[in-house]
Amino acid sequence: MNYEHMEFKDVLKYLGDRVGIDTGSIKITKKNTKYDKLYKAYNLSLKYYQNNLNSSFGKLAKDYLLKRKIDEKIIKEFEIGLSLDKRDDLTKLLQAKEYDLVTLNRIGLSSDDHDVYSNRIMFPLYDTNGRVVGFSGRIYKDKDQSKYVNTKETDIFKKGELLYHYHIAREECRKSSSVIVMEGFMDVIRASTIGIKNTVALMGTALTNEQINLLKRLSNNIILCLDGDDPGQNATLKIGNILLEQGIETKVIKLPNPDDPDTYILNNGKERFTGLIDSAINFSDYKFQRLKENVDFRSDEETANYINEVLKETAKIEDPIRVEVVLKRLAKEFNIGYNTLEMRINSYIKEKPKKEKEFIPQKKTTRKDKYTKAYEQIIYFMLNNDWVITQVEKERIIFPTEVMRELCSEISYYYKKYGNINIADFYTYIQDRENILILLNNILADSYMEKTTKDELFLYFSVTREYCEKQEIKRLTNLMKKEMDPIEQAKIVEKIRKLRLGDN
Ligand code: GTP
Ligand code: MN
Repeated sequence: MNYEHMEFKDVLKYLGDRVGIDTGSIKITKKNTKYDKLYKAYNLSLKYYQNNLNSSFGKLAKDYLLKRKIDEKIIKEFEIGLSLDKRDDLTKLLQAKEYDLVTLNRIGLSSDDHDVYSNRIMFPLYDTNGRVVGFSGRIYKDKDQSKYVNTKETDIFKKGELLYHYHIAREECRKSSSVIVMEGFMDVIRASTIGIKNTVALMGTALTNEQINLLKRLSNNIILCLDGDDPGQNATLKIGNILLEQGIETKVIKLPNPDDPDTYILNNGKERFTGLIDSAINFSDYKFQRLKENVDFRSDEETANYINEVLKETAKIEDPIRVEVVLKRLAKEFNIGYNTLEMRINSYIKEKPKKEKEFIPQKKTTRKDKYTKAYEQIIYFMLNNDWVITQVEKERIIFPTEVMRELCSEISYYYKKYGNINIADFYTYIQDRENILILLNNILADSYMEKTTKDELFLYFSVTREYCEKQEIKRLTNLMKKEMDPIEQAKIVEKIRKLRLGDN
């Protein structure tokens, strides 16, 4: 269920199909939960609101939606409805279904003896399993009220524990290996109309830990696409930083101010929006861009400040190879010695507070070194891009530890046997190989890039060569220390010298 992000009954069917057992006849008795009555009330309300929108009372609201290019198909798909200006219709209806007023008040559908919502376009809100657990009602004619009113928090509706569209996005994110985060559900709905469905909306809340966990479950390739205005951009910084502290570097799509995804797609169309997704930048690069915005590069002081700020941000990047790329770029752009930059950044890395991590004992807090990272990243690439497996063989990449070598050979073997890699299946395949499993878990728990290009891959390969050379130098140095014959010693020194030259 976890690896395929599937529901129990879907997993049952999936596995049944694989081994040729018809699971259709298996009855899964659904446990009655104490909230069944609550869910039912929300379903009844949903039907009631949907009905209203299709009745003659719904004409004005329909016109509003159509004007916003929300057509019948979308209305149906997102189960959009309408609350009327008669103020106790829904309350009466539910009372007739044996809900008492106290309950209706408690579950957020009535307030005293009347309906909570009137004259609003009703967007159902779903929990992670796709059940309707609340509503957000939008004004469409009166302009002097708050734009949206949400259901109050109840036993089944906790705003901070859900992401709009999660239940649909789950499958879509798996297909696209990414999740796009937006601010409002109108943005998600709009993106859906152009076939982009690996999206979720935050709905105006600060990102909670529960929501972060939900995001991580969708994909570790998280793309932030918030509004282009100042609040949206500030939220991008804030959320990106929170995730970065947890070791996840997001990507960012910056919309022109004041667009949100909804208006951007409406005005520019599908092609341009998918173009933006494809050219999403790393969060660190996004921060560099923002740092650059108001700097006067004619001033030495401002330039130095800027470089320091960039170094501070770069110190937060986990991948040492990317750190190196940034340092090289900086060195070139501002004509500063690489070593100077490296020394400075090392001082920032050291003073980095460790407090956050100490509270998460189950996760290893040690910073993996550059080489381990590179090797693990290559393994992760192998799991996600079949062609990397062949490249690793072709380039004769040798992994430094026995367990890594075993894992790689299992990946190759599995690939040759089944023609592709399905991580969940591969997991099952190696489940009794404890040491490999531990390594695999360790790699999967880290946030590595899923997709790669040949150029990027070769960058990682070159790091592994650097490692091999370093090891070889170490070996030779030891050898030399033990060697008594000065002529033999000199030979070894020469070998080391040659290796060092090749290094640079
Ligand atoms: P439209 O104006 O209909 O296009 O909505 P939007 O998606 O552009 O909404 P906006 O960017 O203003 O806000 C993003 C999200 O914040 C919305 O989807 C809502 O969930 C939430 N939100 C916005 N305004 C309000 C409000 O007045 N009250 C509450 N409770 N939530 C709001
Ligand atoms: Mn909008």
